[in-house]
Formats: sequence, C-alpha cells, structure tokens
Amino acid sequence: MNGNRIGRNDPCPCGSGLKYKKCCLERRPAFEWKPPAGESESDRARVRLKSGADVAAIRKAGHLVIETLRHVEAAVRPGISTDEINTLVHDFTVQRGAIPAPLGYKGFPKSACVSVNDVVLHGVPGRRILVDGDIVNVDITSILSGYYADASMTFFVGDPSPEAERIVRIARESLRVGISMVRPGNTIGDIGWAIQAYAEKEGCSVVREWAGHGVGFAFHEAPSILHHGKRGSGATLVPGMVFTVEPMINLGRPDIRVLEDGWTVVTCDGSLSAQFEQTVLVTGDGVESLTPYDLS
Ligand code: MF3
Ligand code: CO
Ligand code: CO
Repeated sequence: MNGNRIGRNDPCPCGSGLKYKKCCLERRPAFEWKPPAGESESDRARVRLKSGADVAAIRKAGHLVIETLRHVEAAVRPGISTDEINTLVHDFTVQRGAIPAPLGYKGFPKSACVSVNDVVLHGVPGRRILVDGDIVNVDITSILSGYYADASMTFFVGDPSPEAERIVRIARESLRVGISMVRPGNTIGDIGWAIQAYAEKEGCSVVREWAGHGVGFAFHEAPSILHHGKRGSGATLVPGMVFTVEPMINLGRPDIRVLEDGWTVVTCDGSLSAQFEQTVLVTGDGVESLTPYDLS
C-alpha cells in the first residue's frame, strides 16, 4: 500500500523538480504547483500548503465552527425555521469575533447553508419551518483571524423515519471512509474512490457536481476533492495540505437540479440527501481533523 510513499530524497510530488525535502516537506513550496499535462482546469490553481502557525489558526477557527454546530444542534426541533437557525449561526459567530464566510459570498444572502430533506446543499435559510421527521444539514464556514474552517452535520428533527436514519448513517460513514484514506503518499483519487465504493455498495449515490476543496487562506482553494473516482488517480497528498471532505449522498439517483433562486440544489427524484463535512490536515504520518467530531 505504501508503494507510492515519498522519500525525503525523491522528486517532490508538486512537480517543482526539487527534492521533496527541499520543497514541500518544508511546507513551503519553492515553486508554483504545476499539474501534470491532462489535469483539469480547476486543478491548475496553486495548492497553498499550510505552515504550523497557519494550521494552529485554522484549528482555532475549526473549533469555533464545531462549537457553533453544537449550539445549533441543541436548538433543532420541530417548529424552528431555517431563518432562526441562520440567526443562531450568525450571532454566535460574530459574538466570538469571527465572520460568517457565506454571507455575501458570490451573492449568497445568508450566514449558513441550511438544507432540508431532498435539498442536497446550498439551502438558503428562510421561512421554512422544520417538522418532525425532517433531516437538516447545517453547513458553517467561519473566518477567525483571517483563517477559514468549514464543516457541516446533518441533524434529525424529532423522530427520524427508517429512510432518514439510513441516509444519515451512510453519509456520516462516507465521510469517515473518505477521511480514513487521507495520509501522505495516498492520492486525492483514493478519497473519492473509497467514498463511491462504500456509498454505492449500500445502494446510495454520490453527487458529482460539487466537491471538497482546499481551505484555510480562502473559502475555496485548490485542490478539488472529488467524492467519486479512481483509486490512485490525481495529485499525491503531502503534509501541510488542508482541505475539506464533504460527500453528498442521495438515497436515490445522483441527479440534481438548481432551483430558481440560483442556489438551492435538490435531488431530481425527490429522494433524501445527507452530508457531513470536515476540514482535514495531511500530517507527517496521517490525518488530523481541524473540525473534529465523532464519526463512529
Ligand atoms: N460551505 C459550503 C462548502 O462546503 C460552501 C457554501 S458557499 C455559499 O463548500 F455561498 F453557499 F455559502
Ligand atoms: Co461547507
Ligand atoms: Co466545503
């Protein structure tokens, strides 16, 4: 399994032509990251590795995001509106000296994404009242001291149906399986491959149109972390990479459409969709979640 582990004296996987120890091993790429010919346009942006000080700052932002999610979790019950959830996130975030990243991002009008039942992601908070049996994903990104962390959880509203329990369990496990592939020497494709293999074995489907992403200095950085794909494909993971893993898993077909508001994404077949997201760091020998919560 470690056939592609990188030695200190091996060529750096970023493509600089330098030895790994003289380049990305120091978490300071000497060169702009150049993708091998044939990689997609979106992979062409530079991967910005994080220093120890950067990681410490993202970890702080991450702990705030998780505290905020716990604050929301305690308030989720039948009768609450998605706008009230947005207000909880907004107020909690600014009271701690942080900024809700979604507010005004590419014109997004609210401070969190709140996605109910067949809403896959980017649900815009509004007057919708949650009812017993709903599932609701709350996706929070906070900027603290200039650093971004991004995480989400899907909660039950009241008592879940068997279908709701099933899709939430499989989405949570999909994130666990994806993160379990994160270590130096594995590739980005290993993450998506593991998620797709697991979710499809369970008879569910993986949404293809959105992906995880580098994060920390900005909301969305290179690289893209697809939640499907081929084992061993894509760029090799190196220490100091920080990115999200955030598989969107549908109980039915993978097809989605965007509503008139230009944001809300729903399943075409009306089936339930669930998502869990964490921001993770590639460490010297594995992975650390910078937005940690239990996935077992
Ligand atoms: N938090 C989302 C993500 O995981 C992005 C939301 S973009 C917004 O990448 F504009 F809708 F907030
Ligand atoms: Co998010
Ligand atoms: Co994200």
